Amino acid sequence: MQFLAVLSTLLALGGSVLASPTPQNDNLHRRQNIITGVNGISAPTEGETISTTSNFTFTYQPFDYCFEAFSGVSIWLVPGPNPPTASSLNATQGFSEYLAAYGDWIYDDDGISVLAPGPPPPSFSVPELDPSYVGSTVYVAVVENIFGCPPVGAPEYVLSSVGVVYAG
Ligand SMILES: *[C@@H]1O[C@H](CO)[C@@H](O)[C@H](O)[C@H]1NC(C)=O
Ligand SMILES: *[C@@H]1O[C@H](CO)[C@@H](O)[C@H](O)[C@H]1NC(C)=O
Repeated sequence: MQFLAVLSTLLALGGSVLASPTPQNDNLHRRQNIITGVNGISAPTEGETISTTSNFTFTYQPFDYCFEAFSGVSIWLVPGPNPPTASSLNATQGFSEYLAAYGDWIYDDDGISVLAPGPPPPSFSVPELDPSYVGSTVYVAVVENIFGCPPVGAPEYVLSSVGVVYAG
């Protein structure tokens, strides 16, 4: 009974989402659903210093809230001073403006098999940036693809970011 009540609440929520898309603007509508205000990145940590002289450790926990077998992510270093938002992403959920593109990766959520190219490496290098970035905040950002979560059925994206200080 309780399960059915929860299920019907979820369906009602999903139904109301479907019935009233109320996009803020055409761009958001075109970009589909981008979830922000959450963070799956546990390394690097907020305020950590990153430098061209050593790699920074990277750890991300996919949200995987539809219990998919695999979670696809793209990883980026993007300029500050403010954290990236949904409008920082272009029509294909990439950053038109970025400092480093760390590629597309696939986590195996079930621990059963690996889908190429597999999960991201445990660390990433820092590119040499314009000296004007020294001492300022840049963001390590992750865009996770959530494919076909019922009842929405359309792709959704989760944007996480962590502010780090570029030491040069
Ligand atoms: C979105 O940004 C990425 C990375 O800059 C780029 O490769 C892709 O072509 C862009 N997509 C569009 C539609 O501009
Ligand atoms: C540093 O990160 C790059 C990817 O950005 C990787 O290719 C390289 O192996 C890493 N180096 C070390 C020492 O972990």
